[in-house]
Amino acid sequence: MTGQVLAFDGIGQDFATPGSGGRIRVLDGISFDAEPGQFVAVIGPSGCGKSTLLQMAAGLLMPTRGNVKHHGRTIDSVNQAVGFVPQQAQLFPWKTLQENVELPLVLRSVPAEQRRAQVAKAIEAVGLKGFENYYPNQLSGGMQKRGSIARTLVYRPDVILMDEPFGALDAQTRMVMQNDLQTLSAEAGATVIFVTHDITEAVVLADRVVILSQRPSRLLANIAIDLPRPRDVFEPFKNPGFEQAYDAVWSVFRSQIDIRGAH
Ligand SMILES: Nc1ncnc2c1ncn2[C@@H]1O[C@H](COP(=O)(O)OP(=O)(O)O)[C@@H](O)[C@H]1O
Ligand SMILES: [Mg+2]
Repeated sequence: MTGQVLAFDGIGQDFATPGSGGRIRVLDGISFDAEPGQFVAVIGPSGCGKSTLLQMAAGLLMPTRGNVKHHGRTIDSVNQAVGFVPQQAQLFPWKTLQENVELPLVLRSVPAEQRRAQVAKAIEAVGLKGFENYYPNQLSGGMQKRGSIARTLVYRPDVILMDEPFGALDAQTRMVMQNDLQTLSAEAGATVIFVTHDITEAVVLADRVVILSQRPSRLLANIAIDLPRPRDVFEPFKNPGFEQAYDAVWSVFRSQIDIRGAH
């Protein structure tokens, strides 16, 4: 068996419904895993529990049933070995870009000299060289997102969890970020779990697409995307084989969309 970096095994999650005293089943028996360096996209309707799954991998939430393993070890507390890029950039407004990116290394007691070198490398990798002394409000939304990614890359996690990271960006910035992420994740050799509700984004970036159903969420399909790399994110449908891969995902996912509600 090849070593899995991250494995979700029979995950179930029930939450208390605020006010009513009842419980709601969100996730129901979800199993999938990620091999070293794999890019796994997770798609599913809003509210199906995608963010909940990432929180479990980060050790911020324990599943009601099943477990998540990181290198074979069950995650039972905050998992500092994974990187988490949230939906909003969440850079500290009172810190410069340099200070924001440096923070995870300070928290890990990395010596100052080594910190400087790693921060410079991470900032350069996301294309923000020259902006080290800028505060977040002096950066565009896309640049803040880059800063947030640099802050994750800086401590070289072997797993990067990304929760709809480009959802709030305009379409052009989003494509540029997708393209950069493709390069960065390949260079870092990192395993990526990438949550999105955008099928095109999932297919163009991922090695596998995991499709979740509406609540209570089950795993509908885990589809391999065997397209050559690097892929053209700017004209995704021009990648050979893209259309068939897209259709394979869409044919499963469409059953989860309430067309009547879509107006
Ligand atoms: N801490 C919590 N307490 C109660 N309900 C929660 C909690 N976290 C998430 N939920 C519920 O779980 C469901 C899935 O949430 P989430 O994982 O954020 O979905 P997604 O990211 O797929 O949109 C939602 O119905 C949400 O209201
Ligand atoms: Mg979410």
